[in-house]
Amino acid sequence: MKKILVTGAMGQIGSELVRKLRETYGTSNVIGSDLWKKEEVEGPFEIVDVTDGKAIYETAKKHQVDTIMHLAALLSAKAESAPQLAWNLNMGGLMNALETARELDLQFFTPSSIGAFGPTTPKKKTPQETIMRPTTMYGVNKVAGELLCDYYYSRYGVDTRGVRYPGLISYLTPPGGGTTDYAVEIFYEAVRAKQYTSYIAEGTYMDMMYMPDALNAIIKLMEADPGRLVHRNAYNISAISVAPEDFARAIRKHIPAFELNYDVDPVRQQIAESWPDNLDSSVAEAEWGFEAAYDIDRMTADMLGKLRVE
Ligand SMILES: NC(=O)c1ccc[n+]([C@@H]2O[C@H](COP(=O)([O-])OP(=O)(O)OC[C@H]3O[C@@H](n4cnc5c(N)ncnc54)[C@H](O)[C@@H]3O)[C@@H](O)[C@H]2O)c1
Repeated sequence: MKKILVTGAMGQIGSELVRKLRETYGTSNVIGSDLWKKEEVEGPFEIVDVTDGKAIYETAKKHQVDTIMHLAALLSAKAESAPQLAWNLNMGGLMNALETARELDLQFFTPSSIGAFGPTTPKKKTPQETIMRPTTMYGVNKVAGELLCDYYYSRYGVDTRGVRYPGLISYLTPPGGGTTDYAVEIFYEAVRAKQYTSYIAEGTYMDMMYMPDALNAIIKLMEADPGRLVHRNAYNISAISVAPEDFARAIRKHIPAFELNYDVDPVRQQIAESWPDNLDSSVAEAEWGFEAAYDIDRMTADMLGKLRVE
């Protein structure tokens, strides 16, 4: 992994991943791309619509990259309001990016999600290999995407690798319309108003992870010895299994007056209830040494220390 093209680079993950990759591999070796660009973003960047296969191919060729990190996607809650668009972007974009990887012999990373699981999946310590019958368009895309990546590995030898991310918590770029977005909003509102109204019900557990752990996982997986990777697409990874009231408890250690209320959104609640409480990440630990450094208290202290709310 010496020169990397990142799609969806303006998003919650991409904006931080590009920074991290540039620190590690050098600014000129990381090409950001998206449908749009914030003016202040520096370094090599291309406007690329991933539904245009030729555009991905030509960008990868122009910059002579050896790796694609494909992040452009429509997330769970947004995908549920526009399922056809989600299919076209999530599957069409992935296929285009994989084709470029095949044609140019590139290493390939794309994230799957806890959303790949469904209501019939075991909810606790969800195993690496288990029932995957998601009931959302996003989940359907993620399962199909995992299989497609494995297919490109076994059929064409493309070095595809992926993780099943939990909900990601970060302060640089707001989340893009997922079911776990509340876990970011709660911190912003704690700082701004000392109060948050959660659209996810009390007692609803989901897996979450702080962004630094999520970024380290990508680099560690992509740098791992390919001979050790049996599962490839995609590895369960897990850090913090939490319900809204757990965040409130952790936040009150810093903002004692913080109040948590509930106004449950039935669509996102139903999605949340169809997902696991926490994943078993032992296969990722064994095959490429996955580890998470942040628990809820360490993450909360860091988030509240770094958040700037306008
Ligand atoms: N953030 C999470 O909590 C989380 C959890 C699990 C998995 N993931 C996965 O990680 C990946 C990135 O997620 P994210 O949270 O950064 O998403 P995001 O919504 O924050 O960002 C997605 C980016 O893709 C771009 N995009 C949309 N359509 C495009 C197109 N046609 N061509 C090019 N770019 C396009 C958007 O402009 C946006 O900048 C996705 O595959 C997502 O499913 C995210």
